[in-house]
Amino acid sequence: MELKKYFDDSGRYIMNTYNRYPVVLRKGRGMKVWSSDGREYLDFVAGVAVNILGHCHPKVVVAIQKQAQRLIHVSNYYYIEPQIKLAKLLVENSFADKVFFCNSGAEANEAAIKLARKYAKEQTGAERFEIITALNSFHGRTFAALTATGQEKFRKGFEPLVPGFRYVPFNDIDAIGKSITGQTCALLLEPIQGEGGVRIPSQDYLKEVRDLCDAHNLLLILDEVQTGMGRTGKFFAYEHFGITPDIMTIAKGLGGGVPVGAMLATDKVAPAFQPGSHASTFGGNPLVCAAAIATIETLLEDGFILDQCNRMGKYFMDRLGQLKAEFPNFITEIRGKGLLLGMELSREGDPVVKSCLEKGVLINCSAGNVLRFIPPLIVQRRDIDHLIDILRGIFMKLW
Ligand SMILES: Cc1ncc(COP(=O)(O)O)c(C=O)c1O
Repeated sequence: MELKKYFDDSGRYIMNTYNRYPVVLRKGRGMKVWSSDGREYLDFVAGVAVNILGHCHPKVVVAIQKQAQRLIHVSNYYYIEPQIKLAKLLVENSFADKVFFCNSGAEANEAAIKLARKYAKEQTGAERFEIITALNSFHGRTFAALTATGQEKFRKGFEPLVPGFRYVPFNDIDAIGKSITGQTCALLLEPIQGEGGVRIPSQDYLKEVRDLCDAHNLLLILDEVQTGMGRTGKFFAYEHFGITPDIMTIAKGLGGGVPVGAMLATDKVAPAFQPGSHASTFGGNPLVCAAAIATIETLLEDGFILDQCNRMGKYFMDRLGQLKAEFPNFITEIRGKGLLLGMELSREGDPVVKSCLEKGVLINCSAGNVLRFIPPLIVQRRDIDHLIDILRGIFMKLW
């Protein structure tokens, strides 16, 4: 089909919620995707931190094919083999004791917020329902997740929002202390802010948050939707900070590309959910769980991919640092952990994203001026070198 026809039909039939770049992506393998007109792109967006094993990883493809032939969907009225296996895998490789499955990051956060409120109500009486979140955070677009999101631009126009959320500056422990009231039940934080522009807290911050939660009998909910599943070089980002949360949410990389999310909790908190408390028709269905099992098994298999993520993350960071030294007026900071990397610019990032696209590389911009690099964890040196050469060329030409 002619490109213009795609754009016309998309405009005609699909709600206008995305600013899309003028490319129709049709095929993917590893680090690469191909458009309908046969152009090849190196993918540093990876479905926004989703395709951790690259596109169409053979183990994930085979797992989906096999499961699709056996059983695609049944209700949670019945026991589901792959769901039990996936929950076991997650529990055995995290702080958590129990898992609730859903379909996205926002849904995982909704579940976490509901669990925290229910737990607090049961433990301490009806008045503890407030949740403290960080300014500049992102937790999703459903109502409670949207309200939890500490960015006015996403919430505007959808008022009235869900009551009971307070915002504090990220990485400011004193601000949290001052915001705790007799009604607070939990803190909800990203260990590293992704959509907010790749912001990394000081090494002690989460430890201090954990201590504060313990001192005030508050639950710590970590949103690892973007940072989880190996993205930062450990299976979960909390492992970098020497703490564990009470509740954690994951999605994105969990299914290697299929929509699956999860909310994990300790045995202290999880019993607040009982039959009828919460549910999802598709949550943890056989097909997505089979894909997620293959993804996790491949990710954790002999630690190779996590090692690769750490090595490539360091290499990438060094190369971005070299670029910063070459263009000190345009590049103000390089931040990141593992393969969640951000390059802050002194100006808007979108022209750079568009130029990269023209040159066959997909990158993304968050918070307006932060180029974000979230490639598959299987990215190679040559891919990073290629991107750096392209960026250098663009910086020289644009500015
Ligand atoms: C930290 C974080 N939480 C939640 C979400 C929402 O996830 P989803 O788009 O799957 O609802 C995102 C998405 O970018 C995210 O980065």
